[in-house]
Amino acid sequence: MLASGTWGLGENLNKFLTPKEIRENIGALVSKGISINPKEGNPPPRLFETPSGLINSIGLENPGIKEFKKTYLPKLKSYKVPIIVNLHGEKIEDFIELAEELKEEKIAGLELNISCPNVKKGGLAFSSDPKTVLELVKEMRKIWGNFLAVKLSPMGPVYEIAKICEKAEADAIVVANTYPALAVLNIKPLKILQGGLSGPAIKPLTLRLVYEISKKIKIPVIGCGGIISGKDALEYLLCGAKAFQIGTANLIDPRSALKIIKELKDLKNGLCS
Ligand SMILES: Cc1cc2nc3c(=O)[nH]c(=O)nc-3n(C[C@H](O)[C@H](O)[C@H](O)COP(=O)(O)O)c2cc1C
Repeated sequence: MLASGTWGLGENLNKFLTPKEIRENIGALVSKGISINPKEGNPPPRLFETPSGLINSIGLENPGIKEFKKTYLPKLKSYKVPIIVNLHGEKIEDFIELAEELKEEKIAGLELNISCPNVKKGGLAFSSDPKTVLELVKEMRKIWGNFLAVKLSPMGPVYEIAKICEKAEADAIVVANTYPALAVLNIKPLKILQGGLSGPAIKPLTLRLVYEISKKIKIPVIGCGGIISGKDALEYLLCGAKAFQIGTANLIDPRSALKIIKELKDLKNGLCS
């Protein structure tokens, strides 16, 4: 799957990949995070490249659910590949409203981003509060019968949250989102950028989470963190992931997914070591 936020909303996808390549290689397209109202996101700079990773501070920019449904979703559906819509909200009711908006749409499922702040809990991330996550997933399950995945933050009570997602009958969990990080942009005057770290730097950290979590729960774990080669993907599969998502690699080369899938197939056929 192509991970949320790393290939936009498909505006430029067909400049790099043909519909046939997408259909034959990509298991699902996971949309950029969608909220009820449009969000402008953070002012630039929003990206900072570290030696082996990327810090992003996009601020969840998106066109809002109405515009997403009207302008972007029809085009995404035309690729004839499963579409998973990534959602974020400021409170549980927002997630419910977003799911209601998508009920009639032919999409493969939803992915809930619980790394976002919960205004009802003073801005603490949903992912830091197991009780809220339990309520969120239970409430979503009442109205959403289709595929429902929860995308975990790698921070906070991760194992407890994973178990709670299973208890609340989520179909899968995605492990994981980015890690809080900071870059110094200028020394004098000091200028910093705070955001989420992704890419190869986080692979060993997330790989361990996938390994440990998949021993503790029975629902599928989708691995996501620093996959840029077929070997990376294979390692996730060997460590318990049932599927994987490719994120930052898309920003390095929008055709990365094809290369990764080819390498994975070659490894499976014993052509690489
Ligand atoms: C530029 C950028 C934007 C992202 N936007 C979202 C988002 O809207 N929602 C979300 O759940 N994750 C978002 N992510 C996190 C990725 O989907 C992925 O979980 C993370 O980058 C780790 O995978 P990677 O190391 O392969 O990139 C974003 C990541 C990047 C780099």
